[in-house]
Amino acid sequence: MLIAQISDPHITEIGEKAYNIVPSNDNLALCIKHINQLEPQPDLALITGDIANDKKLEQTKNAASILDNLNCPYYIIPGNHDDKQALWSVFGGKAILSKDKNFINYVIDGYKMRIIGLDSTKENAAGGQMSQAGQQFLGKCLIEEPHKPTLIFMHHPPIKCSLIETDIDGFDRAEEFGELIAKFSNIKAIICGHIHLPTNSLWNGTIVSTAPSTGMQLRLDLSMKKPSEFYLNKTGYQLHHFTKQQNLITHTIYVHKNNDGPYPFIEHRPNQELK
Ligand SMILES: [Fe+2]
Ligand SMILES: [Fe+2]
Repeated sequence: MLIAQISDPHITEIGEKAYNIVPSNDNLALCIKHINQLEPQPDLALITGDIANDKKLEQTKNAASILDNLNCPYYIIPGNHDDKQALWSVFGGKAILSKDKNFINYVIDGYKMRIIGLDSTKENAAGGQMSQAGQQFLGKCLIEEPHKPTLIFMHHPPIKCSLIETDIDGFDRAEEFGELIAKFSNIKAIICGHIHLPTNSLWNGTIVSTAPSTGMQLRLDLSMKKPSEFYLNKTGYQLHHFTKQQNLITHTIYVHKNNDGPYPFIEHRPNQELK
């Protein structure tokens, strides 16, 4: 089973750039073109929040018109740059499977892995949380299928990554959330976005990973000096491969407008014996 993870596209109005400089709409389109050319094709795509750049309905609609070009089905959870009402009005019942527009937590069934989407946003805050209601929902889902391999997707990583966006902005109720996660050995990973950098960490018996942004990459600064800075030189996404051996292998894929390669090894060492 293959899952493409698109994160933090930060989509703008048509003809505009995020922060006046980031061609985020074009970058998302470039990643989708790349995903559509993968062989084999992903079974589905998970979009881990910050769909819009400024919580606007128009931006959310633009995101839908770009995401609809994906060949595979896709599903969305909110980030701190999204307005949940706007997300619901554009994606509700289609790419968001929850029944309540104020409670965007849901399960995707029908695949080799059970996939659970969780809303980690906090009203008017950049940081995240696991709400009591979200945690109750998760606990109920995990008890229903305690042996089926399960993947959780959410916007905020529940761990401190030595970055402003996690350590200073924070994540409320991380400890309680972690205690629940630790009770279930079938959770293969918790895949997140928000920090615009790929990371992996062992946490409460599972892997917490974060994806690059399709929009712009954070400059890695472990000194946590404000303000944060970003780079424009690449766009990227994650490909999670759940193998026949039931291992989850995560590939970070950067997409460049002008790819120099691929070069076949054989053509570049013709006089050497291949082993
Ligand atoms: Fe973001
Ligand atoms: Fe975010």
